[in-house]
Amino acid sequence: MRTIRGGHLLTLEGVDRVQVVDVLDTAESFVEVHHRTIRKVPALTGRVVASLFFEESTRTRLSFETAAKRLSADVISLAVAASSVKKGESLRDTISTIEALGLDAVVLRHRSSGASEQVARFVPHVHVINAGDGQHQHPTQGLLDAFTVRQVLAERRGTTGRESGAELFDGLRVLIVGDVLHSRVARSDIAVYRALGANVRVVGPGTLVPRELTEWGVEVSYDLDESLEWAQVIGLLRLQSERGSGEFVPSLGEFATHYGLTSARLTTLDPRTLVMHPGPMNRGVEIDNAVADSAHSLVTRQVANGVPVRMAVLYLTVAGGDGR
Ligand code: CP
Repeated sequence: MRTIRGGHLLTLEGVDRVQVVDVLDTAESFVEVHHRTIRKVPALTGRVVASLFFEESTRTRLSFETAAKRLSADVISLAVAASSVKKGESLRDTISTIEALGLDAVVLRHRSSGASEQVARFVPHVHVINAGDGQHQHPTQGLLDAFTVRQVLAERRGTTGRESGAELFDGLRVLIVGDVLHSRVARSDIAVYRALGANVRVVGPGTLVPRELTEWGVEVSYDLDESLEWAQVIGLLRLQSERGSGEFVPSLGEFATHYGLTSARLTTLDPRTLVMHPGPMNRGVEIDNAVADSAHSLVTRQVANGVPVRMAVLYLTVAGGDGR
C-alpha cells in the first residue's frame, strides 16, 4: 500500500503493521481533544476538505465532518440529491468543478467499487480518502474497529494502546460473521487485523462466505456456535439488502436462526468477548437487542472513536503528520 502520510487513503489492502500503528497512535493523541472546552486544534487551518457522499451515511459522514472541523479545516459538503449529479453530471466533472473552488482533500463515499481510486487519478494533487466504495473497501471503518479493540484490551491491562504496543493483537482470535461477500467492512477489517497479527476467521452461510475466501488469508467456517467459543472478538456484519444480500439466504428468519447473534447465544459467550457492529444494525437479524445493548457490545464506542481516527487520517494525509 502507498504511504498514508502526505498521500491518499484508498484501501487497507497491503497495509503493514507500522502504517496501522502510526494511524492508531495518532488517533489516540486526538482523543483528548474531545474533552477540551474548545474542541479544536489548528492542524488543518486554511485547508479545505470536501465531503462527497454519493451513497447514504450517518456515522461516517458526520464523524468525518466533525473530525475536519476539529482540525480547523473548512468543510464543504455536497448535498448530492440537490446537486447537478441529479442532472446527469459525471463524477469526473463533479470533482473537477469542486477542485476549481480550491480543495485540499476529498472524502468520498460511492456505490461503485474503485470510485475513490478513479478520483485520485482525476485530481492527483488532492488527498483522497475512501469513505466506502461499493463492496470494495471502508478503510477508516477498519482502522476505527482496530483502534477500539486496542483501546479496550489496553484498558484491561491498565495501560494505553500506545504503551501496550502492537503485540496486543498477536494471535488474537477475531471472528467476522455474516455477509462477508458483499462487505467492504469485512475486507478492510480482515486487512487491518491481519496486519496487526491477529488470527481471523469468517463464518456465515455458504452463499455469503464462499470457500474461496481462504485466499484472503482467513479461516472459513459455517458453524457459528463452535466459532463463538473460539472467538475473542466478534465483528458482526450488516445483511445488505440494498446490495441484494436477501437473495442469498432463504429468509431473514432462517439467517437469524443460524447466523444471528441472538439473546440465547449471548448467554454462551465468555464474559470478556467483545461484540462489534459497524452499523447501521438490523436488530433481530444479525444482532438481537439484548446483544446490541449488552456489556459485550462496543457499538457506541466504535461510533465515538470514528472522530479521533478520522482526525488522524485527515491529519496524516493532508498535513503529512506535520504542523500541530
Ligand atoms: N458504518 C458505516 O459506514 O455507517 P454509515 O453508513 O452510517 O456511515
